[in-house]
Amino acid sequence: MKIGGTTEALNMRSAIVHGGHLVTPVSQLDRLFPESGVRLHAKLDQLQLSGSTKERTARFLLDELECNGGLMPGGTVVESTSGNLGMALARQCTQRGYTFIAVVDERANRAATQTMVAFGARVDQVETPADGNRLRARVERVAQLLAHVPGSVTTNQYGNAANPAAHANTTLPELVDALGGPPDHLYVAMSTTGTVLGCQLAIERAGWKTRLVGVDAEGSALFGGALGERKLPGLGAGFATDLSQQAHPDAVSRVSEADMILGCRLLARREGLLAGASTGAIVAAIGRDLPSLSRGATVAMLVHDGGSAYLPTVFDDEWVRAEIPGGERALAVSSSANPFVEMA
Ligand SMILES: Cc1ncc(COP(=O)(O)O)c(C=O)c1O
Repeated sequence: MKIGGTTEALNMRSAIVHGGHLVTPVSQLDRLFPESGVRLHAKLDQLQLSGSTKERTARFLLDELECNGGLMPGGTVVESTSGNLGMALARQCTQRGYTFIAVVDERANRAATQTMVAFGARVDQVETPADGNRLRARVERVAQLLAHVPGSVTTNQYGNAANPAAHANTTLPELVDALGGPPDHLYVAMSTTGTVLGCQLAIERAGWKTRLVGVDAEGSALFGGALGERKLPGLGAGFATDLSQQAHPDAVSRVSEADMILGCRLLARREGLLAGASTGAIVAAIGRDLPSLSRGATVAMLVHDGGSAYLPTVFDDEWVRAEIPGGERALAVSSSANPFVEMA
């Protein structure tokens, strides 16, 4: 892994905190798919202070609520979260003097909910409803809390234009700056679709030719997907979010949980990067596409969050064998081959 392209020099601007988020470094991944012929780069957003890309989203969502007058000094912020936005909002709310109530479901990592509590947040966990749609249950609980908690407002990450604005104005411009130009292919994972929509808006605004790939989970309802059981948090959604109505990535790549796990394990063993399930999904999506990408193409991806919170799941062999259909094959990390093409 080379940090900062071929120079191995850290971009010093990454040391400056920009009102809630860090300008994270970009690293060149030479060992992940060594025979691929493409130049693969990863933006290391797991280095954000709350451990994920959602640090950016939280900042833009709170700034917007403060500006439009909905959030008063000492007020309460309520949001549905699978974990990462909750940690980021908990951190930034405590800095700004707000109370934060995080509505989570049972799939949220325990480390994430403990982190929110450490930042002073209240964690409200919904039961999984009979139809299994946890996201819907969380959103309904947010509405109940807003009706009952005086002075409470929601950041509404599923429909708030400030969510994609965070990525249009920071994530992609920083990446392009570090690469010295737009990548030929950009892979990001999707949940609210804020990241992919923000990248799309920045690409359209600048007139770049970048092919944008949105990576989703099998079992997610985004972009006409068939709803199904999912065990890993971070990517996918139980309904088509409002933001997703405006998002039109060039391709949607759906990844099974077994392949996400294999992607995470490859990244750990070949590049020494410990990342979460959605980043593993991106690795799998890139691995599948490699045979069709031209030699010398620049491929960029986001590392959305770190892998520590996934040690009891993604990185635990027993959990994978017990919980993930086809999980056994995700445990075999071969030396240098591209397993996503071999399996196809
Ligand atoms: C772990 C993880 N995966 C995927 C995403 C992309 O999510 P969204 O579509 O909500 O921007 C994020 C966003 O921060 C994330 O933290």
